[in-house]
Amino acid sequence: MKGRKHLLGLEELGREQIEQILDSAKSFKEVLERPIPKVPTLRGKTVANLFFEPSTRTRISFELAEKRLSADTVNFTASGSSVSKGESLKDTARNIEAMQVDMIVVRHQASGAPHFLARSLDCSVINAGDGTHEHPTQGLLDMFTMREHKGRIEGLKVVIVGDIAHSRVAASNIWGLTKLGARVVVCGPTTLLPLGIERLGVEPTSDLDEALEDADVVNVLRIQLERQEKGLFPTTREYSRCFGLTRNRLSAAKEDVLVMHPGPMNRGVEISQDVADGPFSVILEQVANGVAVRMAVLYLLSGSEVEPKPE
Ligand code: CP
Repeated sequence: MKGRKHLLGLEELGREQIEQILDSAKSFKEVLERPIPKVPTLRGKTVANLFFEPSTRTRISFELAEKRLSADTVNFTASGSSVSKGESLKDTARNIEAMQVDMIVVRHQASGAPHFLARSLDCSVINAGDGTHEHPTQGLLDMFTMREHKGRIEGLKVVIVGDIAHSRVAASNIWGLTKLGARVVVCGPTTLLPLGIERLGVEPTSDLDEALEDADVVNVLRIQLERQEKGLFPTTREYSRCFGLTRNRLSAAKEDVLVMHPGPMNRGVEISQDVADGPFSVILEQVANGVAVRMAVLYLLSGSEVEPKPE
């Protein structure tokens, strides 16, 4: 990762680069467990968080990661900004960069928006989720959580359930997990499984019970209710009946299965209450690990020489 300026997706990273981020995140997780969870790694650097789409976890997680690294941070949300007066993405970002910003974290509804900014700006750009393309730091924190529990990614059977076609979380998980040697099964209605997805090295199926057999990890995606109007699945109830993760269904998986969800959850639709809050759920651990993973990404892209040292 050293020498790399941007993080736009996991597609562009090699196995060693992904493993370097995960290893570095382990050191930063140790920092977060100290009484004063702060290091001077990014002192003097300024990071702008540009969120053109709603976010709870990613936005707060990046901001906390920046503060824990002693960076100065500024936050931009499209509502209340000059975007409402018609200012373009490029002009908005170039004006923010002109205020001596070193790194930009961007979430945008358009796939490819971070790539466009990376070509238009001199500073580093980090993708915090672009359209249906990628959400690389979510993929990384998912893998970090899996590795923490299982000790490895290689050989794990990971089932990703839901709207595979429109999910940037699914895309980043698929790129990352296949590079690290996991067996990835993607499960959802045929209308939400892209044609030819097996070319990415995954196994598609619409039979959740079959998919769950001997699974090490089940990553449940948010069903995007806004897509229901487009007729991609009959009703929420029907979706839940066929693809909702319940305690009963989960019994087909390994007895130490991990249940993950990137959030926000539709409880009672893609995941039952008792599974979301049950003993196999690591959903809040994912959120906690997100801060350490984002600290690692910011550190590695910044070119900082100030490494976190063991206490
Ligand atoms: N996982 C995730 O991207 O959540 P937010 O939309 O709340 O950031």
